[in-house]
Amino acid sequence: MNRFKQGVKHLRPQRVLAATAAVAVAGAGMSLVSMGTAAAAPGCSVAYTANSWGSGFTASIDITNSGDPITSWALEFDYAGNQAAGSAWGGTLTQTGKHVKIVNAAWNGSLASGAKTNVGFNGTYSGTNTKPTDFTLNGVACNGGTTNPTPTTTVSATVEPTVEPTVEPTVEPTQQPGEHLDNPFVGAKWYVNPDWSAKAAAEPGGSAVANQPTAVWLDTIAAINAPAGSGYTTSLRKHLDNALAQNATLAQFVIYNLPGRDCAALASNGELGPTEIDRYKSDYIDPIAAIQADPKYKSIRIVNIVEIDSLPNLVTNAGSSAGSTQACRDMLANGNYGTGIAYALSKLRAAGSNTYNYIDAAHHGWLGWDSNFAPAAKLFADTAKKATGGVNTVDGFITNTANYSALSEPFVKINTSVNGTSVRQSKWLDWNQYTDELTFAQAFRNQLVSAGFNSNIGMLIDTSRNGWGGSARPTAASTSTDLNTFVDASRIDRRIHAGNWCNQSGAGLGERPKAAPASGIDAYTWVKPPGESDGSSSLVPTGPNNPGGKGFDRMCDPTYTGNDRNGNSLSGALPNAPVSGAWFSAQFRQLLANAWPAL
Ligand code: GLC
Repeated sequence: MNRFKQGVKHLRPQRVLAATAAVAVAGAGMSLVSMGTAAAAPGCSVAYTANSWGSGFTASIDITNSGDPITSWALEFDYAGNQAAGSAWGGTLTQTGKHVKIVNAAWNGSLASGAKTNVGFNGTYSGTNTKPTDFTLNGVACNGGTTNPTPTTTVSATVEPTVEPTVEPTVEPTQQPGEHLDNPFVGAKWYVNPDWSAKAAAEPGGSAVANQPTAVWLDTIAAINAPAGSGYTTSLRKHLDNALAQNATLAQFVIYNLPGRDCAALASNGELGPTEIDRYKSDYIDPIAAIQADPKYKSIRIVNIVEIDSLPNLVTNAGSSAGSTQACRDMLANGNYGTGIAYALSKLRAAGSNTYNYIDAAHHGWLGWDSNFAPAAKLFADTAKKATGGVNTVDGFITNTANYSALSEPFVKINTSVNGTSVRQSKWLDWNQYTDELTFAQAFRNQLVSAGFNSNIGMLIDTSRNGWGGSARPTAASTSTDLNTFVDASRIDRRIHAGNWCNQSGAGLGERPKAAPASGIDAYTWVKPPGESDGSSSLVPTGPNNPGGKGFDRMCDPTYTGNDRNGNSLSGALPNAPVSGAWFSAQFRQLLANAWPAL
């Protein structure tokens, strides 16, 4: 896969032409032209690079504003060959014949003098991929073709000495801190949440993983500032200050507070009612964006994981199908999931070039069927296009958040068959097109690009609890010739049913967090902090053990025999679990014991 990489480049010093009053002297009788204050002095330099492979190429274009500040721009150039440019990242591209025009994205329209931005795109061609040489920015020729400022001319009898326009000393343009990268996880030091780390280290053997980075869940308005008595100990700002103190250059936050949150479950319903979209915007997203926009944090690549489960619920649980809920139908009807997410994408991305948005994309056991796969990608694209900045506000997607789908299933591949029968027909797969999370995430990424997202989006996979190690882990494919026996004895994911999502018995820590682990994957990451419960095993009354008044979902009850969404199977949940988000020691210890790769 061709991943276009942007980096912070040291630009050659730019000649910054200051617009100053300049006058000319002329002999008597000649009309004098005194140039009043010059119009903004435009100017630009453009560096175009392209790497080609056979019939395709990836173009990267550095644009530097060498003139006065601008608040929007349009870059234009002509190809000599038959190059066909695809959708761009960092701007909106149109091509008419050989002429290409790229207009700024919402977040990079303003370029101070000397500032630069970068756009890129994938394209196709045949024959030679000759680079364009002549560029204009807002109609002005670039690369030394700085156009003299357009004078405002007035006629005056005043005789003035000739003064050459003042040329400011050459300046090294300041690099944009936190330049927007294709994959922010590469080369970064990831923030370790000290609150989680302390709980992990306090567990027997927990120090082995206590220094792993995990995401911080902003799951209520109170989580933003952590006021006294709220139950939160560390505010968003404090987490970012902690990150600076750790010299961390990346920090992960989960944006998780939509109106009518978690419409198909009861363990993580949010504090905002279905129609409280204004509060979501003004009391939740706006304060978060304002804090993340603080220049103090420009050195931190702030990764925002946006709204777990919400859009996937609209795809599968908001109709009349078994397992659908009225709450999800209401959220589909009022549009507040889409409105909220579009707003969040806009505001969080606009907070700075160092913020990155990854939208939740459920997991293969949810969207892996053809009936859900393409419709989900389309809904995600339709939602992102409502954002200010559209799909350019989206850096990627995350799958398997807080879930247990195996990263890889070495012995149960989608093309595996038993006695001539596809494993897709097994009870476990139930015609799913995917057997594991990695193949799903990579395929879904392609579907998302087809739906209109930029071709450089990356996928994240939450590997915090999908390891499935321990003595029960299969070491080879079963020899059974019975389809279901073969699949159930060969699969790594040992859940009773792939729809079981709460505190799964037998689960283990998965792949440790790492950047760029596979094609199309920006990172394996621990978004759901290991040891934090998915939901309580029984109803916990509102009070010290349930300050947020969280509900009780029977999918977290080990005695529950299930519903339509899990094939009416036992829930597989561990007993004696606290409410969602609370520390669940037995779960953490189990995750350690069943880690894979083993600790
Ligand atoms: C759950 C909870 C949320 C918690 C998060 C991380 O989904 O609903 O409150 O912060 O998981 O554990």
